[in-house]
Amino acid sequence: MKTTSAALADTAAYAEAVETATKAAAAYYATGESPLDDDAYDRLVRALAAYEDEHPDEVLPDSPTGKVAGGAAVGDVPHTVPMLSLDNVFSAEQFATWAASLERRIGRPLEQWSVEPKLDGLAVAARYHDGKLVQLITRGDGSAGEDVSHAIGTIVGLPGRLDRPVTLEVRGEVLMTTAQFERANATRTGHGAAPFANPRNGAAGTLRAKDRPYTVEMTFSCYDALPLPLPLPGSGDLTGRLQDEPHSEVLAYVAGLGVHTAAGTAVPPRTVAAADQVQARVEEIAALRAELPFGIDGIVIKADLAADRRAAGSGTRAPRWAIAYKLPAVEKVTQLLAVEWNVGRTGIIAPRAVLEPVEIDGSTVTYATLHNPADITRRDLRIGDQVMVYKAGDIIPRIEAPVAHLRTGSETAIAFPEVCPQCGSGIDTSEQRWRCSRGRNCHAVASLSYAVGRDQLDIEGLGGTRAVQLVEAGLVRDFADLFSLTREQLLSLDRMGETSTDNLLAAIEQARTRPLARVLAALGVRGTGRSMSRRIARHFATMEQLRAADAEAVQQVEGIGVEKAPVIVAELAELAPLIDKLVAVGVNMTEPGATPPVAGEASDPAADAGSGPLDGMTVVVTGAMTGPLEKLSRNEMNELIERAGGKASSSVSKRTSLLVAGENAGSKRAKAEDLGIRTATPDEFADLVAAALPGD
Ligand code: IVH
Repeated sequence: MKTTSAALADTAAYAEAVETATKAAAAYYATGESPLDDDAYDRLVRALAAYEDEHPDEVLPDSPTGKVAGGAAVGDVPHTVPMLSLDNVFSAEQFATWAASLERRIGRPLEQWSVEPKLDGLAVAARYHDGKLVQLITRGDGSAGEDVSHAIGTIVGLPGRLDRPVTLEVRGEVLMTTAQFERANATRTGHGAAPFANPRNGAAGTLRAKDRPYTVEMTFSCYDALPLPLPLPGSGDLTGRLQDEPHSEVLAYVAGLGVHTAAGTAVPPRTVAAADQVQARVEEIAALRAELPFGIDGIVIKADLAADRRAAGSGTRAPRWAIAYKLPAVEKVTQLLAVEWNVGRTGIIAPRAVLEPVEIDGSTVTYATLHNPADITRRDLRIGDQVMVYKAGDIIPRIEAPVAHLRTGSETAIAFPEVCPQCGSGIDTSEQRWRCSRGRNCHAVASLSYAVGRDQLDIEGLGGTRAVQLVEAGLVRDFADLFSLTREQLLSLDRMGETSTDNLLAAIEQARTRPLARVLAALGVRGTGRSMSRRIARHFATMEQLRAADAEAVQQVEGIGVEKAPVIVAELAELAPLIDKLVAVGVNMTEPGATPPVAGEASDPAADAGSGPLDGMTVVVTGAMTGPLEKLSRNEMNELIERAGGKASSSVSKRTSLLVAGENAGSKRAKAEDLGIRTATPDEFADLVAAALPGD
């Protein structure tokens, strides 16, 4: 099967490629089960188009180029106005060229552009008569589609009744959110059916399916509305409104009737006043892509004013007043080769998928996370499966689902471990995440490496190989043992000279005086991260006070609820021997500047927060730090904020008081500007908190 965009060699190769593409398009539009991922299909069609450009007399009538839906879809319900597709651009330059040619064609610069997310689902038209949803139609070949009215009632955002008794057609995308997709696949595998490969396939398959013994939910998002040619009282006004008002007003009007648009999402449609402002908004939407609860495959840019659209007109396949700015594919199909089971520092046994390496969004993906054994079973994954892998931005790659229709029968079940793969002990399977019965004693090297890491005890010169050496030599069983190491013991190790020994001993000595928050972080109390460790340390001030606390007392710490409090108490009990050992070797167990709580009194968050230049402020840091803050990790920035009396947060919201925006700050800066939140450069911020800055 040829899927590259490399040139097609001859007539035979071209004919074969046309067949591959038409089959893929047919399967894609029928059931969502294409053997090609979107990227491979797009490359194939581009190769066809290139060949056809050079050999115009050889173009086969079946070729999918230039056809809506690759010419695959059929249906018998005529559309009142053709449901067109969109032309694509792939870069800022291509967009600028397209916009310039549109403005040349119209003879004036456009005053208003709408920039909106390109939702990755299926186009449908929904007809409302007198406010009642009466018919749902797929796009089909653009001039007629298939009636899928049976799906009415299963689509969030497409109400059965509008807030007003109007007659109109709304057009938009039916999709599955990530959560709906996960639920749909759990339901399907629970019914013995094969899982959907990705949310788009889920929406395609579900929209057409009748007579399933279960229903799964989808979501609608409207991007267009038009009058229906029906002689209804008052429809004259509505016709004018839908045809003459700016597109942005039409969307707002439709949202006001109770239909979903992208307005309520993190990437609402926005208008900008000139083509050269489009790129900034495109970048903002692209930066938010990985965090969105639904898939987007690009950004749609449209002339917003009705007069401009009329002047631009439409071709047979796509309008000339809109363009899709495609983003790189973040999903690829590859093979699941094996599953590894790794034991973490707390003894959790975590599965990880080993994949046939595949390039996604500019990086090679070889591993993907799998959550736990129950999750593997729920997704019906098998070794040898072709799997849909998703990776966007910095997020850890994940397997969306197996591509079940590509199974050959030679796939095998994933074996779950019977004993701990690290130490051979039994496994505690009472929770969803399995754990070695020896808990955190299982994997001494992992616990040790974590404890000495930069954000915990910060012991330089104790990297992975040294940790292994110390544990294997029997010198260290846990990180408390570090504090009793002698010079002779260290010198006896391979490749350990006098200088490195002295440096390491000095670093260990420094670590003995770290604040309680860092000691807590080093202990790796489950359910607490670095910032929670700091809050606990400030609240209780000493390890003694903390250990004396029961669940109720622990709940007084901001952010710890009924669920978490008993877990923390149990963890501290499990860690008691290690804590005792740390106390015995003289490790600091107090939090500088904090005062212990008075028994029986709820904590005063203001007192917990200490006092300083950021008193009562919630601060978010984004981008690269420079100047005096250049060397600080994100964790150290957060420590700094909290030392200065503020609260560190990772996301911008209405509650944010200040955004510290360094170089290359992206979506967070845009959001802060939107919300009118004060921003500071790293230098300005360094001045503000000067007193709390660590000395050199
Ligand atoms: S406007 C006449 N806006 O992308 C132009 N389309 O690849 C109508 N799509 O067929 C399309 N999000 O199914 C428009 N905000 C958006 C969209 C959008 C997704 C889909 C739509 C279209 C396809 C073209």
